Amino acid sequence: MKIDGKTKVCGLIGHPVGHTLSPTIHNTLAQSLGQDLIYVPLPVEPGYLEDAVKGGYGLGILGMNVTVPYKSDVIPLLKNVDPAAAMIGAVNTLVRNEEQGGYDGYNTDIIGLQRALQEDGITLQGQNVVLLGAGGAARAAAFLCGQQQAGQVWIVNRTPEKANLLAQEVKKNYPSLAIEALTYARIEDPACSLLPTEGLIVLQCTSVGLYPHCEDTPVSAPSFISRISYAFDLIYRPEETRFLRLVREAGGRTANGLSMLLWQGVAAYEYWNKLQISSGQAKTVMDRLQEEVRD
Ligand code: ATR
Repeated sequence: MKIDGKTKVCGLIGHPVGHTLSPTIHNTLAQSLGQDLIYVPLPVEPGYLEDAVKGGYGLGILGMNVTVPYKSDVIPLLKNVDPAAAMIGAVNTLVRNEEQGGYDGYNTDIIGLQRALQEDGITLQGQNVVLLGAGGAARAAAFLCGQQQAGQVWIVNRTPEKANLLAQEVKKNYPSLAIEALTYARIEDPACSLLPTEGLIVLQCTSVGLYPHCEDTPVSAPSFISRISYAFDLIYRPEETRFLRLVREAGGRTANGLSMLLWQGVAAYEYWNKLQISSGQAKTVMDRLQEEVRD
């Protein structure tokens, strides 16, 4: 591509940013839409976040993604924060605000998960949903359950206190949502009568099963697996985690987290460039992402 004085620059701030697929998403979008825009990883050493945000604005950077460990720390450095991002306490997208001389913050992780599920024909409204995990990724999923008015939500985590805390926090923001913490021991008990025997939607938000620990799974009890009609694993390396394999072999539908990564990136690109990306344009990016994950 030709880079000149008019080329818009976007980037990803985080630590580390070495293995990111985000440049593939944004540079492919720019190329296929014929836009003069380039996206680069911008590693930010601990202690330099404020310099990075201010410096980014000073350098004319159009937009930035924010990843670990800065998604919460960046919030006080912003001009405005979108209500959904403020509620979950995490921002992953900064959008240049010329009037106020800084960046506004959004959370496209929630949008990404919602779009990924939607493309699979899944809406959480009225559904029985189990979330595995209570870390940063599970937070976005739990708040999406509130936003979409899920029927009943159970948060299952190795450290039960964290599941309790997350359930309480979501409940505070969505008082009518039925959400509670459960232990792995409870859900793996074949006699567990708290969960329905079929039709469960499970969002796998732990890091268990991530490459190279491909044979690990947070849960394997056939009595639990057989209750699942649809499982979404936020992991996309490997393409099929052991957990997803178990669900598929038991007859459930499955999807991995690559589509969430795609759609959170697409949503950020839409914010920066004030346009809508079609499913067809997103498909081109998905093909590229799949090639890269397989490499
Ligand atoms: P992320 O931002 O990807 O969610 P995180 O905040 O570190 O990362 O959260 C990782 C999640 O995976 C947590 O829910 C963690 O459980 P704990 O809260 O008990 O630590 C879960 N996790 C990690 N290793 C696990 C393991 N071996 N068994 C079960 N859960 C595990």
